[in-house]
Amino acid sequence: MNDARPIILKIGGSAITDKAEEAQPRTDIINRLAEEIKRADLDNLIVVHGGGSFGHPTAARYAIKEGYKEDPAQKQGFAETHHMMTVLNGLVMDAMILHELPAISIAPSSCFMTENGKVKIFDDTILQGYAKLVYTPIFYGDVVLDQKIGFTVLSGDQLVAYLALKYKATKIVIGTDTDGLFDSDPKTNPNAKPFKKLNLKELKELQPKLGKAQGTDVTGGMAGKIAELIPAIEAGTHVTITGATKGLSIYRALTDQSVLGTEIEKA
Ligand code: IPE
Repeated sequence: MNDARPIILKIGGSAITDKAEEAQPRTDIINRLAEEIKRADLDNLIVVHGGGSFGHPTAARYAIKEGYKEDPAQKQGFAETHHMMTVLNGLVMDAMILHELPAISIAPSSCFMTENGKVKIFDDTILQGYAKLVYTPIFYGDVVLDQKIGFTVLSGDQLVAYLALKYKATKIVIGTDTDGLFDSDPKTNPNAKPFKKLNLKELKELQPKLGKAQGTDVTGGMAGKIAELIPAIEAGTHVTITGATKGLSIYRALTDQSVLGTEIEKA
């Protein structure tokens, strides 16, 4: 990341973990994504990854998103969920460092605080310092302290939307386990029709109809993810949603080439 307006890449937990089984990474995909990011060679990139089967099951088990209920088991669950995310983040960082990317992991639980689940405080002193040295910051969906409800989950998509608005991102690329948005679930319906292009009005009409994620998802599945992104799209950020489980779409999307997926623009 440097002083230029950033490009933000969200790597969905559904792409880098197996959501059918708890804490199962897809290391082949993680490695290939690091290779694609290296190949894109961007100085103004911010990466955010999701939790998949590392973050969601633990967060759900202890109802972390709903806030702290003064329950000692839940207090431990908060620590455990953060730890699970650092384990997945460690695998992502292994791949980044192996591919000689100047990547630095930044834990949202150490620099973000929410109020009723919405970002209230972000101390970006450290991020700015890394930006000066042109490091690629790697954030992830995490547990965070909350000024009203004690603690909660801050999803990768909330982070993406917040960072995109704050730093006026030119583009958001979302890598997921399907090639963009479809009119029904392409995993269960082979006739599902992909949306190639959507404007904000079309997206808002579609948003409530978008499906719930497979497996445990405490942050609202695709409908929840899109709801988070709407303000950034309103502010003029272009969004590409594409598949991250197969080769080159992420590299192509990051370098402004056409991809199989959904392009979203304000108008
Ligand atoms: C979830 O982040 C983080 C935790 C549950 C701690 P996301 O909501 O961004 O994760 P994915 O991409 O849906 O898996």
